[in-house]
Amino acid sequence: MTNKTATQIIGIASGKGGVGKTTVSANLAIALASQGKKVMVFDADLGLANAQLALGCRAPFNFSHVMSGEKTLQEIIVEGPMGVRLVPGASGIQHMAALSQAETAGIIQSFSEIEEDLDYFIVDLAAGLSDTVMTFLGACQHRFIVLKNEPSSIADAYATIKVMIQDYDLGNISLIPNAVSSQAEGERLFGSINSVIQNFLGRQVDYLHSIVEDEMVLRSIKASQPLITYAPASAATRNFVSLAKSVIAIEPDTSLTGGMQFFVERLASQRISQA
Ligand SMILES: Nc1ncnc2c1ncn2[C@@H]1O[C@H](COP(=O)(O)OP(=O)(O)O)[C@@H](O)[C@H]1O
Ligand SMILES: [Mg+2]
Repeated sequence: MTNKTATQIIGIASGKGGVGKTTVSANLAIALASQGKKVMVFDADLGLANAQLALGCRAPFNFSHVMSGEKTLQEIIVEGPMGVRLVPGASGIQHMAALSQAETAGIIQSFSEIEEDLDYFIVDLAAGLSDTVMTFLGACQHRFIVLKNEPSSIADAYATIKVMIQDYDLGNISLIPNAVSSQAEGERLFGSINSVIQNFLGRQVDYLHSIVEDEMVLRSIKASQPLITYAPASAATRNFVSLAKSVIAIEPDTSLTGGMQFFVERLASQRISQA
């Protein structure tokens, strides 16, 4: 694997917070790695950076040290379970949306430092639709929306998808129902949202796989271990392994070039067009 352009960039988003974006980002990353893929997670939820907890690894430095110029991006990256690498987020920065143009430019610049050969680069985003979230989503090749089977989560997910489609003309949107009671419930949830999207927006979204509600998710975090090794036989682990297989089976997007350098280029051009 020396083909850098093969890196698939996945943005994980949601309408509201607390629906499982970080849980999905971390466990999808580990499940992909357990299937032989090279994966890096970027904790881009700069308000509530907790991907290191979900991955069960500790990071002495984080993104605030890159932004302040104390560290390079390479210096803050830590290695987690199964060789998954993490760009730790900086807690306490109020909101990605609050970043200045210069700060965002600095973030984009620091990404061009990433030289490693990656199969997947997973961006764990903040909830909602700030300019920064949309900038990242626009630069990704695949957009995964995590949602729960609850009225507010469904309404927020639909509102998010509507903006992505109508205002930003983004495609390659897939749904991951989380904390459902069964795969059948997740499939039904997907079916009803997708038909609303078809009827009102004239577009379609894709279904990947659902994750059931499983107490092992919380227990593994408390034990500072990745779910997949802490509870290998659990329902949620089986779901994440299946989710990873669905992700591996996605047709590579040929309309946007893969690879970190192209991701950075798209980020940069969007910031310029927003300026
Ligand atoms: N499938 C699940 N089963 C049980 N608990 C879950 C599941 N998914 C997420 N959680 C829990 O829900 C909370 C919010 O999840 P998190 O991934 O941090 O959400 P987000 O990143 O969208 O804010 C966490 O405490 C997490 O452990
Ligand atoms: Mg999160």
